[in-house]
Amino acid sequence: MSGIQQDQLPVVAILTIEDAKEKFRGNRDNFLDILRTGKDLGFTVYIVTVKDLKLGARRIAGYDYNEDKQAWAQDWYPPPRIVYNRIPLREDENLPAVRRKIEEILDHPTIRLYNPYFFNKWQLFEWLQKSRATRTFIPATRRLRTSVALAKMLNKHPYLFLKPETGKAGMGIMTLRVNHTKAMKFRLKTQDRRRSALFKCATISKLWTRIRKQAGNHDYIVQQGIPLATVNRRPFDLRVLVQKNSKGQWDITGVGARVAGTSSITTHVPRGGSIEDPEKLLSANFGVEQARRTMARTKNAAIIIARQIERGSGHMLGEMSMDLGVDTNGSIWFFEANAKPMKFDEPHIRRRSLERIFQYSTYLYRNGG
Ligand SMILES: Nc1ncnc2c1ncn2[C@@H]1O[C@H](COP(=O)(O)OP(=O)(O)O)[C@@H](O)[C@H]1O
Ligand SMILES: [Mg+2]
Repeated sequence: MSGIQQDQLPVVAILTIEDAKEKFRGNRDNFLDILRTGKDLGFTVYIVTVKDLKLGARRIAGYDYNEDKQAWAQDWYPPPRIVYNRIPLREDENLPAVRRKIEEILDHPTIRLYNPYFFNKWQLFEWLQKSRATRTFIPATRRLRTSVALAKMLNKHPYLFLKPETGKAGMGIMTLRVNHTKAMKFRLKTQDRRRSALFKCATISKLWTRIRKQAGNHDYIVQQGIPLATVNRRPFDLRVLVQKNSKGQWDITGVGARVAGTSSITTHVPRGGSIEDPEKLLSANFGVEQARRTMARTKNAAIIIARQIERGSGHMLGEMSMDLGVDTNGSIWFFEANAKPMKFDEPHIRRRSLERIFQYSTYLYRNGG
């Protein structure tokens, strides 16, 4: 960022939603890191709620953290040129007033928004299905609508993942295995907030009833289960952070790895998963040489996928994180992308990710995007 004049830097507002008790919602540690990084780089940056972001106004009421008083305080700021959407919940983002505001920002002649909306898991697969370059990375995926569709998927794939279209952090995920040599041939694993449970049955109709009950009124996708590479018999996957850089091009900020907890279906850290070095895990499975090639292929895949997601979404995007799997043969699979990446715990990835937010903001500001 050296050589940039301060008057050439855009005013950046971090957008979130107001909260009756807490002033505003969202991960405060994350917001604080973003604010500090921006200020260190010479930017005017503040947090703004949907309610306070009045697009025609000459000044905007925003929040900053007062380091002396150790408290969040509101003040007046110049209107933003860049709005960085960190509204934390889908439910909030779907409120009519919030959607209207996002559309107003998208239509605004001088304000640029990145991360317009959360992704939906089914839509991601539709977008990635459309391009030959990305199709190779996606597991077979259908919407889970009827027991007939489920039976069809089971015939092709004896191991399936059932996932809510708008899920996160492993919530609501189930796995299903069929073993024709057993009387109770269907095995459905479910997981609640902390525990996982196993349900066995002999018929599709019993299975369907159980799945309906578990899924409640949420829309689900059903997906081919990928036999993930393991370490100490625990599967792992790769978390890739992809962000646009100072040239406005998709770039890899970092690759982390998550190893599943002993009894969890997924690799999320709150479910007992742990953080590991991806090169080490891949080397242990495939040897140093192939591990290096797999890392290179992973990064390449993530860039191609990010481009296609952006094309599919019809909006300009600035960043996303991706969950990618490596199977026992070393092939790479796409599981999902998040439009509002969580904090990466790896310090080198974290630092770079914060700087990139402002590098890309500057690009957007100067080039109109
Ligand atoms: N089709 C699949 N095959 C194997 N493992 C999967 C599959 N889909 C998801 N997983 C595992 O479950 C984890 C969570 O799935 P994901 O789609 O990321 O849902 P969430 O939104 O809850 O994080 C993934 O990171 C991966 O470890
Ligand atoms: Mg995930």
